[in-house]
Amino acid sequence: MHSSRINLHGRDVVSSRDFTRQEIEHLFALAAEMERHGEEYRDTLRNKKVALVFVEPSTRTFQSFLAATRALGGEAVPMADPSMSAMAKGETLHDTVKMLEGYGVDCIVLRHPSRGAAKYAAEMASIPVINAGSGSQEHPTQSMIDLYTILRRRGSIDGVSIGAIGDLRFSRTIPSLSYLASLFSGVSLYFMAPSALQVRPEVELFLKERNIKYKRIEETSEIAETLREIDVLYVTRLQKERFPDPSEYEKLRGSYIVNRELLSHARSDIGVMHPLPRVDELSPEIDSTPNAWYFDQAKYGLPLRMALLYLILGGESSG
Ligand code: CP
Repeated sequence: MHSSRINLHGRDVVSSRDFTRQEIEHLFALAAEMERHGEEYRDTLRNKKVALVFVEPSTRTFQSFLAATRALGGEAVPMADPSMSAMAKGETLHDTVKMLEGYGVDCIVLRHPSRGAAKYAAEMASIPVINAGSGSQEHPTQSMIDLYTILRRRGSIDGVSIGAIGDLRFSRTIPSLSYLASLFSGVSLYFMAPSALQVRPEVELFLKERNIKYKRIEETSEIAETLREIDVLYVTRLQKERFPDPSEYEKLRGSYIVNRELLSHARSDIGVMHPLPRVDELSPEIDSTPNAWYFDQAKYGLPLRMALLYLILGGESSG
């Protein structure tokens, strides 16, 4: 079994900013081990309960945390339909967390529509809290999967050029990916979106402070030229549910689509990623090409989340 001096035991996962490169590399090494020998870890979460509190819809994050918990022999305590819990009657996040702690839960995986929800839950809980998406703010475990995908498909994260296209304004994956990618050397980021959908100032500020190379691409005419520069195209859907004004959403809908014609401008080995779900921004005609990395990206969620749960709750409690 894997062992190391890196210790994530009992840690919260609130933001991608909270990790070092060494910790992420350790996580990735263990995720690779889970891919090869996951069965050797099947009892490592025995007697551990993982609450899955999902106040927003999810397929991948919920199902992969559920499967990861079970694969390690732990017990998942799902709370995935807010309308069937006391939250529908107005129970606060505070009280929900306190109840779960009282029932002997060892960890809470939380998806919530509010920015700051995971941080708030982590501050009040005495058990680890894993942010499974906090409004438009962050989705740190998705960014771990994203970089693990790049590592698996490209062989290295250092020196990678990532072009993010789509709704970068309301995205939670793009901030987390930007923060985590900044740990690696020679990374370049290209944000391709009209100004109304551009990356938020907090992300730009972070990148400036760390001298990470990034560029905003706002003109459609510049996209083809940018595509030639990048190794990975990261597509995001319009976050319809986060637009304060539905008419603004309707105006921007369909303003970008990644299809074979667009990729004809890119390098032939470009990797196309998407956290999914997709709506109409990523054409299914890409699915059968070697450029489609997004189904593998979703698949890597299982070993990555197994590794994360193991490090936080399982055997490695000291160096
Ligand atoms: N990538 C992602 O978070 O997908 P879900 O919303 O289905 O969990």
